[in-house]
Amino acid sequence: MTSDIASVSLPDGERIPKLGRGTWEMGEQPARRAAEIDALRCGIELGMTLIDTAEMYGNGATESLLGEALAGLRDQVFLVSKVYPHNASRRGVIAACEQSLKRLKTDRLDLYLLHWRGSVPLAETVAAFEALREAGKIRHWGVSNFDTDDMEELVAVPGGASCVTNQILYNVARRGPEFDLLPWLAGRKMPAMAYSPVDHARLPKRSPFDDIAGARGVSVFQVALAWVLQLPGVFAIPKAGRVEHVRDNHRALELRLEAEELAAIDGYFKPPRGKRAGNALSAALAAPVASMRTSTRTSTARVLNCSCDACAPSPAPRLRLACA
Ligand SMILES: NC(=O)c1ccc[n+]([C@@H]2O[C@H](COP(=O)([O-])OP(=O)(O)OC[C@H]3O[C@@H](n4cnc5c(N)ncnc54)[C@H](OP(=O)(O)O)[C@@H]3O)[C@@H](O)[C@H]2O)c1
Repeated sequence: MTSDIASVSLPDGERIPKLGRGTWEMGEQPARRAAEIDALRCGIELGMTLIDTAEMYGNGATESLLGEALAGLRDQVFLVSKVYPHNASRRGVIAACEQSLKRLKTDRLDLYLLHWRGSVPLAETVAAFEALREAGKIRHWGVSNFDTDDMEELVAVPGGASCVTNQILYNVARRGPEFDLLPWLAGRKMPAMAYSPVDHARLPKRSPFDDIAGARGVSVFQVALAWVLQLPGVFAIPKAGRVEHVRDNHRALELRLEAEELAAIDGYFKPPRGKRAGNALSAALAAPVASMRTSTRTSTARVLNCSCDACAPSPAPRLRLACA
């Protein structure tokens, strides 16, 4: 399912595209429908065949749009959807999945995620995912917006270690997961799915991205995506509802940022200093991220120095603040 595009491995060795697609906010405006379908199909042609959606998006309208866009193309796609936490009971997951399959006009999902953690015990949700897997309705399952302690709890429940990914907010302006979540996932050979990889088009103006983009003759979006994609074990799902944006994002796969460019980015978008003030990063966890970026810039300093929003102490769990 990877065509000729760069790929990452799921824990079972299956290869999936490193650059996929998001769909949040698609299918909500009738006037945009045709352009969005064109954009989705263009991405598939270019090999961006991993597509993420959710029952939540447009209250099902996004899955319905995708069902239409995928007519005749379903087998080329690695299709991901997400279940609401309030549907995460044993019976609720199965019913929600059936509804998603119906809207998506398919008989199976390649990956089904718990959108964020709610009040249903994890063991119950995992049992439902496993039942769906045995029935052939889903091929893999995973989670979203789980922090490291949630992941620890998850893998401790029966069947929990079969989780294949955690979909998380990760981009150059939201580097919190570098502190201990990305190392934890890497240690389990579980790739991280980076959502909002271009920060929902809110990247700051006049950052080093502008200089790099100008010097390279590329867009800031390509620089932002290249930065995310350059980290092994991370794949990204930018949403683009316009063909020109899809083509622009696809070209990020050709861009390799040099050590001095990465250092300039680090100087502006600081890597995390800690999870909470006073928290220490164990050397065992720091080591994997330190060696993850294949450039000279990475060191434990990247993991330990942070002033980004995602790392600011907050009364609410950080990763659950931006669920969409
Ligand atoms: N699990 C979760 O809780 C969660 C949360 C958020 C997102 N997600 C998933 O992750 C996906 C991506 O995140 P996101 O949609 O929040 O943000 P994103 O992908 O970072 O940004 C999307 C925005 O950037 C614009 N854009 C993308 N590429 C562009 C380019 N090359 N040039 C100019 N503009 C460009 C898009 O515009 P156009 O649409 O006009 O092209 C859109 O407005 C979502 O769609 C969803 O599938 C999951």
